[in-house]
Amino acid sequence: MLSLDFRQVASNEELMGYIDNGLYDLYDACFGVAPYFEDIEIDRLRSIFMGYLDNGFVYLCFNEDKIVGFMAAIPLPSQGDVYNIAKEHIVNADEYWYHADIGAAPQLRGKGIAKGLMQILLDKTPASSILMRTYENNEDSKGLHKRFGFNLLTHPDGTPVTQNVEGKRKSGHVEIDKRIFMTLVRE
Ligand SMILES: CC(C)(COP(=O)(O)OP(=O)(O)OC[C@H]1O[C@@H](n2cnc3c(N)ncnc32)[C@H](O)[C@@H]1OP(=O)(O)O)[C@@H](O)C(=O)NCCC(=O)NCCS
Repeated sequence: MLSLDFRQVASNEELMGYIDNGLYDLYDACFGVAPYFEDIEIDRLRSIFMGYLDNGFVYLCFNEDKIVGFMAAIPLPSQGDVYNIAKEHIVNADEYWYHADIGAAPQLRGKGIAKGLMQILLDKTPASSILMRTYENNEDSKGLHKRFGFNLLTHPDGTPVTQNVEGKRKSGHVEIDKRIFMTLVRE
């Protein structure tokens, strides 16, 4: 039986402690494997999460004081590459927030960690509309976001808006993968 506890990260100092004590390992366990195989160095993760904290918010999920989930959101204009694509397809893109990250410990998947984090995302985001981006074949992420009301961002002909994202892989190579976008528009 899990005893999940969701906490907002309050400061950079707290964030650095979490990164050193479980968050980096969890991030690597989420994105260092299929379908991403991302090779993220700890300093890069520090700077990514500091950006989240400076502009938006970060929540962590704990089980028995161990970090088992993470989630972050920021105003969409602060995520330059995504914002530039979004504003070509969304009239009021500058009013959106960007759901920048979510992950759950592999050994505890399917037990509600991400659903808890998604509920916090919906409750705490100070904007009515949210954009997210994921790998085009990430069925877990697409299913999770669909469940919370997100829809695929498409061109007028119904084909998905996509972005090719370049990143260093565990293999040591820099590779490109294709991402899709989903939006949640609330009244
Ligand atoms: C996506 C991820 C965060 C889900 O975490 P989780 O804690 O296992 O998810 P939860 O148990 O809280 O909820 C899963 C819900 O999402 C949906 N879902 C999950 N996998 C799904 C799939 N393959 N197909 C359809 N829906 C799916 C379901 O609605 C499910 O709820 P239900 O079982 O009650 O119907 C997790 O798989 C993960 O960390 N993946 C690696 C990192 C990643 O890809 N992050 C997203 C980047 S955008």
